[in-house]
Amino acid sequence: MTTSIQFPQDFVWGTATSSYQIEGAWQADGKGESIWDRFTHSPGNIKNGDTGDVACDHYHRWSEDVRLMAELGVQAYRFSIAWPRILPDGRSPLNQAGLDFYSRLVDDLLAAGIVPYVTLYHWDMPQALEDAGGWPVRATAEAFVEYADAVSRHLGDRVKNWITLNEPWVSAFMGYEMGVHAPGRRETAAAVRAAHHLLLAHGWSVPVIRQNSPDAKVGITLNLTVAQPASAGEADRRAAQHLDGYINRWFLDPLYGRSYPEDLSARFEQHFPQGLDHLLIGDLSAIAAPTDFLGVNYYTRFIVRDEKAADNLPPEVIPAPKEEHTEMGWEVYPEGLYILLSKLYGEYRIPSIYVTENGCSYSDGPDENGRVRDARRLSYLHDHFQAAHRAIQEGVPLSGYFVWSFMDNFEWAEGYSQRFGLVWVEYQTQKRILKDSALWYKDVIAHNGF
Ligand code: FCB
Repeated sequence: MTTSIQFPQDFVWGTATSSYQIEGAWQADGKGESIWDRFTHSPGNIKNGDTGDVACDHYHRWSEDVRLMAELGVQAYRFSIAWPRILPDGRSPLNQAGLDFYSRLVDDLLAAGIVPYVTLYHWDMPQALEDAGGWPVRATAEAFVEYADAVSRHLGDRVKNWITLNEPWVSAFMGYEMGVHAPGRRETAAAVRAAHHLLLAHGWSVPVIRQNSPDAKVGITLNLTVAQPASAGEADRRAAQHLDGYINRWFLDPLYGRSYPEDLSARFEQHFPQGLDHLLIGDLSAIAAPTDFLGVNYYTRFIVRDEKAADNLPPEVIPAPKEEHTEMGWEVYPEGLYILLSKLYGEYRIPSIYVTENGCSYSDGPDENGRVRDARRLSYLHDHFQAAHRAIQEGVPLSGYFVWSFMDNFEWAEGYSQRFGLVWVEYQTQKRILKDSALWYKDVIAHNGF
């Protein structure tokens, strides 16, 4: 391991979670049903039939969790708000008890010296809105603005860092095209429209948040990847370019004022009855609302091969051969973070970037002395921090890094089988144990480097 890596003085070190993955209490204090409640309660969707009904019981243990974060010395905490706690039926009336929960959490974090980074949408939409059509329907974007307005009005005096959406690609395509996430639909047209309305919801809510939360920094988080061709051949090169378009540019380009990428518009256009031109010049300028930062979630790269038609998406993704893989099956490829950050800055000149998620799933648990020796997580983080540092040295304005995740939690379709936490959670007792990686991270934060 290399020594003496120093990060910039104002660099922000944090951890991240999301509401459905940790809170539990799915019916508490007036909360409405979310699409993830409905999806996990329907047999066959989640490994081992797991649900987020209890999860880490963070809804009741938040104060203990904040103390643990303070012990780690994290400077910032990225968490999300459960939309159906605030608007149980999707539209008003507001549920004050839901707002109060997050208000207490924010106060407690601030008292502990931890800066809250709030994600408004990390996938748990009110089921009532899905029943009315979900993200494929334009009115859902309007409902989102109402929600963003309510939350930023109540928390905007204390929360100064806002992330509108987490990974709209996942919401749209894994939720509406592949059906492996809530709401579990398998309709490409619905997915494409969902993607557009998610972006619209983002763009419309940016000015609303700014108005309610003076001096706030507002951004969006995307799941971004590095798509590399499996060979030097033309077909593979094109397939990699398409995967890059499908996952990265379909979102980045409109967000940064370039409209939808042309090499994909054929696929896109057929799902909009009015065609792309009519597509709403107004929509595109709303989506391109200036933001303060981009949140990047990076886990792995994709190696792509395709001999089929270029518009036959997604192209085949083949596993990287010999390299190390985490228990999610994702290749460990720290170089990809460096490549991605450099490319993002080079292409879009983004003024400030955060890694809003990076981490790995390994199930190493407590030994007979209760110690969790998760050496592979420690080395994964070490190597990714190093890659980020290299990008910073070359001029990429990386402002901070949020390790996914603060604690083991409900990993969507994988249920509790995948553990991403710095903190071990023993689900039967809800006991928390700082893993070795957490203790190492505490040191990194204290020294602002390693
Ligand atoms: C990301 C999600 C996050 C978590 C990690 C492993 O796609 O944003 O909730 O599940 O993957």
